Amino acid sequence: MEQNIILSMKNITKTYPGVVALDNVSVDFRAGEVHALLGENGAGKSTLIKVLSGAVTNDSGTIYMDGKDYEKMTPAVSRMCGIEVIYQEYNLIGGLTVAENICLGRQMRGIVNRKEMVSITKELFDKYHITIDPKAYVKELSTAQQQLVEITKAISKDARIIVMDEPTAQLTMTEVGHLYEMIRNLKAMGKTIIYISHRLEELFEITDRVTIMRDGAYVTTVDTDKTNRDELITLMVGRELSQGYPQRSCVKNETALKVEHVSGYRNTDISFELKKGEILGVSGLVGAGRTELMRVIFGADKMLDGKIYIQGKEVHIHSPKEALKLGIGLIPEDRKMQGCFLNNSIEWNVCISNIYQMRTRRLVDKKKIRRLAQNYQKMLNIKTPSLEQKVRNLSGGNQQKVVLAKVLAANTEIIIFDEPTRGIDIGARHEIYDLMCSLVKEGKAIIMVSSDMEELLGMSDRIIVLCEGRITGELKREDFSQEAIMHLASHE
Ligand SMILES: Nc1ncnc2c1ncn2[C@@H]1O[C@H](COP(=O)(O)OP(=O)(O)OP(=O)(O)O)[C@@H](O)[C@H]1O
Ligand SMILES: [Mg+2]
Repeated sequence: MEQNIILSMKNITKTYPGVVALDNVSVDFRAGEVHALLGENGAGKSTLIKVLSGAVTNDSGTIYMDGKDYEKMTPAVSRMCGIEVIYQEYNLIGGLTVAENICLGRQMRGIVNRKEMVSITKELFDKYHITIDPKAYVKELSTAQQQLVEITKAISKDARIIVMDEPTAQLTMTEVGHLYEMIRNLKAMGKTIIYISHRLEELFEITDRVTIMRDGAYVTTVDTDKTNRDELITLMVGRELSQGYPQRSCVKNETALKVEHVSGYRNTDISFELKKGEILGVSGLVGAGRTELMRVIFGADKMLDGKIYIQGKEVHIHSPKEALKLGIGLIPEDRKMQGCFLNNSIEWNVCISNIYQMRTRRLVDKKKIRRLAQNYQKMLNIKTPSLEQKVRNLSGGNQQKVVLAKVLAANTEIIIFDEPTRGIDIGARHEIYDLMCSLVKEGKAIIMVSSDMEELLGMSDRIIVLCEGRITGELKREDFSQEAIMHLASHE
C-alpha cells in the first residue's frame, strides 16, 4: 500500500566529537499523520529534527520533499518547504508582547500594526481556548503559558509539517487536552505532525505511527494501534523495565520543615509540615502558585508574611545561597533558565553547589571533583562522551540529569523537586524514582511538585493541593485519587 509520503529523510548521519548523534537514519512521513519519535534521552530525536529544520547540518544523507532532494537543509529552505519546529528550548522574545511574538516574522502584506497583531492573536487564542492576554509581555508569563504561545505561533504560520519537540512537558492536564484538540484539527486539515514525547500514554492518545530510535540509530516504525506500551519500551530501551513505583515506608515522626501562614506575591496563608523521610506531593493547575511557593521557601522570591522552621528552629531565608546553607535544595521547573550553567562543563555544574560547602578548605581538589561527577554520571546515567562536555551540548533529558546531580551533590536535607521527571525518558524516570526513595530512606525529606498525575499518586506519601495561591486540601495515601485532586485543584 503506497501511502501519501510527504517527506523522506534518507541515510542521515550526524556526528559530534565523541558522539554519533545520528547513524544512517531513514524515515518517511505521510501527509495527515501524527508521527511520534520515541527514544531514550540522547537517542537523537532532537538532532533529527534540527537536521530537518536546517538548524544543524548533516554529515551525509538527503531529505526528499516535493520531488526534490536536499542534501543540506537551511533554515530558509526548510521554512519554504512548509516545515515549522517548536523546539525543546524556547524561542520567544521575553521583552515583546505575546501578540508581537506570535506575529513576528509573518509574511504579511503591509505593516502590521499593534492593534492588528492583538486581534490576530486573539482570534487564534479563541479558536484554541487559550486564555492569555495578547498584550502581556512574554517574560511575565509562566513556563506553561509561554509554551502555549510558542505552539500557537508555529501553527499560525500555515505550515504543512509541524514538529513538536516535547510540547507537553510544561503543560498540565487541561492544557494538554487543548493541545490534543489543536493537533486533531491540524491533522484534519491534512497537516503532518511530528511529535516527540516521553509520555507513552500521549502517543496512544494522538499518534498514528511511532518511530523508535536508539543510540542514534533507527530501530523501526510501528502503527500505534498495532502496538502496546510494553513493546514500545522494549524497542526503545532494548530490555524490559520494571513497572510500578518503588514501595517504601520511611516517614519518621520528626518534622523536617514547617511552614506557617506563609504568604508571597502569589500565595496566601500557606501552612504545612514536612516530615523526615517523607515525600510530600504538591498538586494544582497551572497558575495555582506551586512553583512560586517553592521559590519563596528556597529564598528565591520574597516572603511577605509567615514563618518557616527547620527542625523546630525558626529560620529567615533571604536567598538561595542561605537556603542551601540551611540544607534546602531546589531542582527548578525551568532548568534552562535557573537550573544550570549551560556554558560550563558537566563537572563544574555538579560540583558548584558543593564548593560553597567546602569553602573552608584551602584548595579545590580536582580529582575529588572528577570522582563526585563520575558518581553522579553513573547514578543518573548521564550520556556524554566526557565530563568536560559543556552542558549546552547535551540532549534535553541529559541536561536535566545534570541539574539533578548539581542539587543532590549539595547534600541537602530537604530537597524540592519541581517537576522532577519532565523531559526524562521512561527508563531514567524510574531511576530517579528509585533515587528519591533512597534519599528518603536516608531520612531526607522531599517536596515534589508534579503535573504528572500518575507520578504524583505513585510517589507521594501525602499530597497537598493548591488553587489560586492557597492550599485547598490535603490528601492521605488512602484517599488518593485523580478525582479528589482535580476537585481540590479547581475548588471554587
Ligand atoms: N552541539 C552538540 N555538541 C555535541 N554533542 C551534541 C550536540 N548536540 C547533540 N549532541 C549529542 O547528540 C546526541 C543526541 O542528542 P539529541 O539532543 O538528539 O537527543 P534526544 O533524543 O533529543 O534526547 P532527549 O530525549 O534527552 O531530548 C546526544 O548524545 C547529545 O549529547
Ligand atoms: Mg531532545
